[in-house]
Amino acid sequence: MSTPNGPDQKIVITAATGRLGRLVVAELLNQGLPAGNIAAAVRSPQTAAGLAELGVEIRHADYTEPQTLVPAFAGADRLLLIPSAEYGQRFPQMKNAIDAAVEASVSQIAYTSFVNTPVSTLRLADEHKQAEAYVVRSGLPFTFLRNGGYTELYTGELGDIGRALDSGVMYGCAGEGRVSGATRADLAAAAARVLLGAVGSGQAHAAANNGRVYELGGAAFSLHEVAAEFSRQSGRPLRYQDLSVGEYAEALTTQGLPREFADLLADTSLAVSNGDWFTTSNDLEQLIERPAAPLADVIATQLRVF
Ligand SMILES: NC(=O)c1ccc[n+]([C@@H]2O[C@H](COP(=O)([O-])OP(=O)(O)OC[C@H]3O[C@@H](n4cnc5c(N)ncnc54)[C@H](OP(=O)(O)O)[C@@H]3O)[C@@H](O)[C@H]2O)c1
Repeated sequence: MSTPNGPDQKIVITAATGRLGRLVVAELLNQGLPAGNIAAAVRSPQTAAGLAELGVEIRHADYTEPQTLVPAFAGADRLLLIPSAEYGQRFPQMKNAIDAAVEASVSQIAYTSFVNTPVSTLRLADEHKQAEAYVVRSGLPFTFLRNGGYTELYTGELGDIGRALDSGVMYGCAGEGRVSGATRADLAAAAARVLLGAVGSGQAHAAANNGRVYELGGAAFSLHEVAAEFSRQSGRPLRYQDLSVGEYAEALTTQGLPREFADLLADTSLAVSNGDWFTTSNDLEQLIERPAAPLADVIATQLRVF
């Protein structure tokens, strides 16, 4: 492993209290980086006690409060920018963060985006397109970590698998499309490898990685395969039924989801049928130097939770 040069050099992780951010911090430590080289930049320092116990520095960084961002990014040799999940606010928030990174003279940005962002038809990808372009325009050395769809989202995190298992039917509008899903844990391991400089260290790392784009996906699965695997492991009948995008959004609202969220989820499912969540890239496995977690393992974990 190569590490940033010198004891004072810092890797700063934003949104570090989130599920991905916490895993990245844990991975950096697992991969041998001293806690003193890590700063967790968080919206609410009072919710970061668990991170502080790891010995990492806690810095206040709220994307909506630009005055917090420059001090939070000060001295960052590598800055991992993980956007918030606030649809419609992500680009203005990222613009604040990228401007602050320039002002703080950060040596290199790694930005977590979505797989296939430039060509994606997904509505949620629009703000990533804007943010990627803004990173490029900033002039800072950058790396894009284009994360695949979290496998956990397809295996029950959105809360509808219990209902599906009870009814025997899982709905969506993904058609025969395939998702190159990846777990947060694998994506965090990949991010840590990039931040630690699989290619080099210090300025050499920044130069070698400038403009690198990683398309990070695991072994692809269809929604039919998700249903079949749940059925196989649970011993209960479950099939996938494809709906039109309108029908699926309607079904989600009748399950109690707010209209806007239902429409976004339906759009995300439709994007599967368009191939937006599929990649043939093996960047993820190359970075983590092992196979990505297979769908069956993620489902087994999910079924243990029920
Ligand atoms: N690839 C995919 O399939 C996929 C799916 C969903 C989302 N995403 C994206 O990936 C990101 C990370 O995923 P995740 O699972 O870790 O999400 P998460 O657990 O919901 O974490 C979101 C993080 O954003 C932080 N945040 C919210 N508003 C902020 C603000 N104004 N300033 C600074 N930080 C703020 C939250 O801080 P608090 O702890 O203070 O709330 C939290 O740390 C998401 O935010 C979203 O952009 C990707």
